[in-house]
Amino acid sequence: MRVLDRVIPGKGDGESLREVLRDFPLAGSDGGLMRDISFGVCRHLRPLNHWLNQQLSKPLKASAQPVRLALLAGLYELWFTERPAHAIVNAYPALCRKLKAPWAAGLSNAVLRKASQLRAEQALADATPNIRLSLPDWLYKRWCQDWPDQADTIAQANLHTPPFTLRVNRQQQQRAGAIAALGEGARPGELSPWSIYVTPARPVFDLPGFEQGALSVQDEAAQLPAELLQAPPTGRILDACAAPGGKTGQLREKFPNAELVALELEDKRLRRIEENLARLNATATLLQGDASQPDSWWDGKPFDAILLDAPCSATGILRRQPDVKWHRKSSDIPVLADLQARMLDALWPLLKPGGMLVYATCSVLREENDHQISAFLQRQPQARDVTPRPEQATMVDAGWQLFPQQDGPDGFYLACLRKGAQQDT
Ligand SMILES: C[S@@+](CC[C@H](N)C(=O)[O-])C[C@H]1O[C@@H](n2cnc3c(N)ncnc32)[C@H](O)[C@@H]1O
Repeated sequence: MRVLDRVIPGKGDGESLREVLRDFPLAGSDGGLMRDISFGVCRHLRPLNHWLNQQLSKPLKASAQPVRLALLAGLYELWFTERPAHAIVNAYPALCRKLKAPWAAGLSNAVLRKASQLRAEQALADATPNIRLSLPDWLYKRWCQDWPDQADTIAQANLHTPPFTLRVNRQQQQRAGAIAALGEGARPGELSPWSIYVTPARPVFDLPGFEQGALSVQDEAAQLPAELLQAPPTGRILDACAAPGGKTGQLREKFPNAELVALELEDKRLRRIEENLARLNATATLLQGDASQPDSWWDGKPFDAILLDAPCSATGILRRQPDVKWHRKSSDIPVLADLQARMLDALWPLLKPGGMLVYATCSVLREENDHQISAFLQRQPQARDVTPRPEQATMVDAGWQLFPQQDGPDGFYLACLRKGAQQDT
């Protein structure tokens, strides 16, 4: 409950779930259970709260937030896990006493006993879609506006545990060989030629060759921007928002002889890039700086290719970072869109004629994605949208929008932009 109390404090903004979990490095099954409950409660927070509130004769006081979180954890376990119901119902009254709230033991027993006789769908039959789909009102409304036919499917996909996806280091092995070495449960992804899905997830240190950099953990959609970026083999490439360096490493695997520059605003996050590159036995020139203000860090030598993996709402990866649903506000979106536009405008002059800039976000909001790129194409007549996208892709004004898919890629957006009028793709 100490994790959830910091992430969902009941008195407003909380901390990032992933950051808080770093402070609780519990290993083994205890660690697994704590992570599962923390992620599960964040994913299903709204329907769990809705049903719990209906059971209470009077609202719980703000000071009873740990008790509320314990009850939500019990409901999550009952409705969304395979653990035996009797064990769950019996465990929580004791937890209430441990939380120094013996008064809540009876309440916990009554609420969880009742819940154990229902399935989630029955309990939530009267709830509106935004509650059932566990979304803040503003986000559900935005998705309904942006994607009238897909909003519920996108939201549903975000309620599932994300798949465990790897990227094969092409400098060390072929994908088929890596799949054979991983054995049962490994299958190739369909979009990225170096992706492998592994079910169930495994600790990284159990993956063959992980410590030597033969494999990296990376979502399949997140592999596409670097995969589609075109550059001469010994060209100069800028990775403009680089930390923690997942795509920097991938660019190095794809372009081993290129001059690779990795830029990051936050000094302390540069270290994460260094660590990730060290595992891959790879290098890049690391720079601290603001991508929207090249004057402060650019040496004046143009780039053959630029990857702009922009800071964004993260609305495409809510299944991986479910706490973002409760921390992100609708007023954040225009601020992010403004920053993304300034970065695009500032980096474009650094690209050589004929060069390619790939813009990417892990967002499923059009303001950050195709609307952003359409407006950029209007401002920059020299820029052409050359994004290769499958025929069945959702049609958008520019670029390629992917939606999160159960057992498939995250929600993601990318646009490949070529500078100048060359006849190519
Ligand atoms: C989406 S993440 C990048 C993920 C990274 N490309 C990867 O694959 O591992 C965005 C990064 O941009 C950084 N950032 C935010 N504002 C920035 C700015 N003005 N200039 C450069 N980097 C920035 C953030 O600190 C964050 O590390």
